[in-house]
Amino acid sequence: MLAFNDPQRQSEFANAIANCGCLLYSRGMKKIKKFGAPASKPLAEAIVARRKRGPKVPKAPSALQLHLKSQAGKAPAAAKVAKPAATTAPAASGSVSLLAYCRAGFEPDLVTELLTRIGAQPTSTVALPGSGFVRLGFPPNAARHVPAVLRESSIFARQLLLSQPGPVALGMRDRVTPIMAAASAFLSAQKVKAVCAVWMEHPDTNEGKSLSKLGMALQPLVTAQLQEASLLDEKSPHRLHVFLTAKDEAWLGLSDVRHSSAWPMGIPRLRMPADAPSRSTLKLAEAIHVFLGDADERLFQPDMRAVDLGAAPGGWTWQLIHRGLNVIAIDNGDLRGELIDNAMARHLREDGFKYRPKKSVDWMVCDMVESPSRIARLVGLWLSEGWARHVIFNLKLPMKKRFEEVERCSQIIDEALGDRASRAVLKIKQLYHDREEVTGYCGFPPRER
Ligand SMILES: C[S@@+](CC[C@H](N)C(=O)[O-])C[C@H]1O[C@@H](n2cnc3c(N)ncnc32)[C@H](O)[C@@H]1O
Repeated sequence: MLAFNDPQRQSEFANAIANCGCLLYSRGMKKIKKFGAPASKPLAEAIVARRKRGPKVPKAPSALQLHLKSQAGKAPAAAKVAKPAATTAPAASGSVSLLAYCRAGFEPDLVTELLTRIGAQPTSTVALPGSGFVRLGFPPNAARHVPAVLRESSIFARQLLLSQPGPVALGMRDRVTPIMAAASAFLSAQKVKAVCAVWMEHPDTNEGKSLSKLGMALQPLVTAQLQEASLLDEKSPHRLHVFLTAKDEAWLGLSDVRHSSAWPMGIPRLRMPADAPSRSTLKLAEAIHVFLGDADERLFQPDMRAVDLGAAPGGWTWQLIHRGLNVIAIDNGDLRGELIDNAMARHLREDGFKYRPKKSVDWMVCDMVESPSRIARLVGLWLSEGWARHVIFNLKLPMKKRFEEVERCSQIIDEALGDRASRAVLKIKQLYHDREEVTGYCGFPPRER
């Protein structure tokens, strides 16, 4: 059963699922081929590989759609982090389940994205709007698409995990014993001999945060028990996730450290620099870390040149000049703090859509508040004209069909790049510091030797 707070969200979600099916049926997987590279991979590896087409989704309404239809008009269930939804069918042998964390409110977008990428209807869905996570079960015939999806970066998932088919009932006293029993069974079913670590996690919501103390208390106890059971090995590429959804319930997940977020709950720990002019500076810092990883130092060399479109009050410009770049900051608004009088930042009060650089630059960054497709056209123009080699851009997404909008923007950039698209890297992701928006990187990084 799916539980919704608000009937409007209920019908939005039903539409998201229905549209997802149509989208796949008519256009296949081609459009999302580029949201592929895991954050931690070197950039050269990330250069877009065409993704195989997923199977077509049958036109007939799924159990989930039918269920949503039957729910329409019924009083919405109360919002609860604890037990958001139940599965619609028992798990068949060979079936596969995914658990994904996201920004609260983006569950329908994440479901649409995952269903599109897996290319199959789910047999079970847990996706309570505002809960900060989704869980999807797929039939055995969809299982072969899952490993690739787990390896690739997701737009809306902060963390994407292979999951157990059902939750672990923890009880209120000894929670370690049921976690250990479920973990042993789960690891054995996945043919995983040991994990390198266990992370106790919870939804990134106010209610979820009330579980953080419990998670911290359980962490050393579960770690010690895993050690005792010889299930802990620091060389293992697998990590165990215990996702607490209530004091008496958890879901288990498994990640591969090479292809998953390196931060618990997928939330980066970045300290706000005291003298940066805006919190937005953290968004660019996170984007650089997520999109460029270890290539960061090669791609930001002192004396490189950058243009910041929509720069005021200056958080992104501040981030760039603190990496040694000279920045032309375009905005009719004022820059703040140390940027007002900094030789590395030149402020021009011009229109970011009309500004053209006199000489090409290494970086263009763009955080202007505008329609996503207009920003995507601008990104495509700067790269196709060779005005910049790398671009980081933000797409504001106030609309309902956010996955489709991101897909459309990707297509716009792709088309603008023409023949050069196959050599470009394009990654788009909702960062932790993004609100109703996503951030993207597109460019031509040097190939790894
Ligand atoms: C979200 S703020 C940018 C915040 C900035 N990245 C920071 O870190 O402080 C958006 C900015 O885009 C600017 N802007 C919007 N449209 C613009 C345009 N056509 N040309 C130049 N700047 C524009 C606004 O004036 C505003 O300062």
